Amino acid sequence: MHSNIRIAILASGNGTNAQQIVEYFQGKDTIEVACILYNRKDAFVATRAQRLGVPAQYVSPATFRQSTEIAKILDTFMADYLILAGFLQLVPTSIIAQYPSHILNIHPALLPNYGGKGMYGHHVHEAVIGNHEVESGITVHLVDDHYDHGQILFQARCKITPTDTADTLAEKIHVLEKTYFPSVIESYILHLPMPVQEHPIE
Ligand code: GAR
Repeated sequence: MHSNIRIAILASGNGTNAQQIVEYFQGKDTIEVACILYNRKDAFVATRAQRLGVPAQYVSPATFRQSTEIAKILDTFMADYLILAGFLQLVPTSIIAQYPSHILNIHPALLPNYGGKGMYGHHVHEAVIGNHEVESGITVHLVDDHYDHGQILFQARCKITPTDTADTLAEKIHVLEKTYFPSVIESYILHLPMPVQEHPIE
């Protein structure tokens, strides 16, 4: 019998966000990470899941697109919410219909800028630096059937200095993700006030 609210994390790569979410909710009796599903066989997130003792399953991109298959997998883990943490595949309409307003994504820029197909990870930071922006940040939003599109729930900012590169910007973004993403998930699910960022990080 599970009284906790159960989240399934969907990831494609390294999994630093997935790890931070798992560690944040460990020992809390409100929300628990039910599983990590990943769609790239060699994703390092699988190793992290194993180390953290969280059930993890490889689900091929094709299986993700098969509505009955993916529904079955999510039902097996009794997932109430889906959290996309570096998940680089469009979420199929059938899943969105199954989880209305229950799917959150993190994007490493201030949407609606620097979003859309192909805008992920380092590509985002290179575009931001290439355009000489003076700030960037993170966006947590609800997922609909367009890339990086649904209702924005939270943003946090960082300054960009003239010496910043895509790599140093990526580090600042990781700090923001680590600081805010798990508590934004918690606030949304438990209907608590969202965290507030007092100042953009330098
Ligand atoms: C994160 O920076 C996340 O914001 C980004 O991918 C990275 C995954 O890192 N997501 C996107 O670009 C989605 N469009 P991680 O695997 O170490 O958590």
